Amino acid sequence: MEKQQKSSHVVLVMVSFQGHITPMLQLASILHSKGFSITIVHTEFNSPNPSNHPEFTFISIPDKLTESHFSDKDTASSVWNLNKNCAAPLQQCLEKILHSLHHIAAVIYDTLMYSAQTITEDLGLLGIVLRTGSATTMLFYPAFSQLDEERIDFVYEIKSPELQALQLKRLRALLSQNATKAMTEVRVAFANVLKRSSAIIVNSMEFLELEALSKVKQYFPAPIITIGPLHKFAPAICSSLLTEDDKCISWLNKQAPKSVIYVSFGSIANIDKQELIEIAWGLSNMKQPFLWVVRPGMVRGSEWIESLPNGFEESVGERGCIVKWAPQKEVLAHAAVGGFWTHCGWNSTIESICEGVPMLCRPFFGDQHLNTSSICNVWKIGLELQNLERGNIERTIKRLMVDMEGNGIRKRAIDLKEKAAFYLMEEGSTSRSLNKLIKHILSV
Ligand code: UDX
Repeated sequence: MEKQQKSSHVVLVMVSFQGHITPMLQLASILHSKGFSITIVHTEFNSPNPSNHPEFTFISIPDKLTESHFSDKDTASSVWNLNKNCAAPLQQCLEKILHSLHHIAAVIYDTLMYSAQTITEDLGLLGIVLRTGSATTMLFYPAFSQLDEERIDFVYEIKSPELQALQLKRLRALLSQNATKAMTEVRVAFANVLKRSSAIIVNSMEFLELEALSKVKQYFPAPIITIGPLHKFAPAICSSLLTEDDKCISWLNKQAPKSVIYVSFGSIANIDKQELIEIAWGLSNMKQPFLWVVRPGMVRGSEWIESLPNGFEESVGERGCIVKWAPQKEVLAHAAVGGFWTHCGWNSTIESICEGVPMLCRPFFGDQHLNTSSICNVWKIGLELQNLERGNIERTIKRLMVDMEGNGIRKRAIDLKEKAAFYLMEEGSTSRSLNKLIKHILSV
């Protein structure tokens, strides 16, 4: 596709959680490389560093939120407050941009900032939603308009393999999890914008969620544009809120091929001190090298790793490396990494798939449960860690990375990586999606 004129201006409305900042910035870079000029509207909270992206214009809007509003225990309330507080400033901001530029080709907003859809409609602008999670998650939203007792039947009737693979227990949890007023309102709002937006961009690959995607198209009339995996498709960008500690790469360079288990629970999940202790002894006892990301504040009631048990450091020595934040994509691509113990956030899932790394899954909340089910039961490239107890941790990592039992899992992970590489190389698939998006943006 020819480069567009610089006058085609796209506004991206970003939600400042790490797992949402990265895909939005990646999308911005792709559109910029095609000649669009880009304005990024973001919240004050967790605001990105504009000096990392001099090619974009950044505008911050007040959100009246503090660190305490963001917890893994009540993400729905955070999202609800975000929309309540940001709607008016966002509207004023878009009006200002429109006033100075006279034309905005499209407003692309994160699903979490659902209030943007009504604002774009009121201003006569083209609103496009970016789903940073899997396509399969979208199949849940029509279920929330059903009565409580009808939801499970409704989901099972969708008959997508991804949903059929969900155990009843997990499905129940997903449908009723945190059924607070905020959660209900947020879910209804998500379903609403997916129905009303002019197009839905999904960070996924067609072959990965083929049947779910075909079902999604039955529920949502807007064109679905699968533009993933964004991290492979976009130019490399710096999007981390925390500083990446590169020392873990020199440590990885000293480890044997496929010997290291990389442990990271993403950017939001928290654990208790007792859980930290079980993980620590599990990693220590299994005798494999490990690279472990413990974010500052990730352990409730601790600043960092001061609650590690006595004797742990001595027993582990050089075999373990703990960092506050890792260059994850580089880590997963490193030859020494043979397994990924993950919370199964969608970005981590798709990054691991692209590098062929089998996963040990320990989901915390929301879509992470659904992703776990796809990893373990649909693609069969991982094992779920059911019980966070040191002996079980040690045994399950061995099953995944060392034992014969894990051979099939490891082989399927490599096969899926090759499929993803082929999909990316294949003449057409990703550039066809991008052309579809560009055409859509320029259609008005
Ligand atoms: C959140 C939700 O947890 C997840 O379920 C949802 O799909 C997206 O929002 P998060 O916890 O941030 O996601 O996890 P994930 O989606 O996996 O994103 C984490 C990102 O941080 C990944 O891109 C990963 O590469 C990056 N990361 C993580 C690092 O760069 N370094 C680290 O040390 C850890």
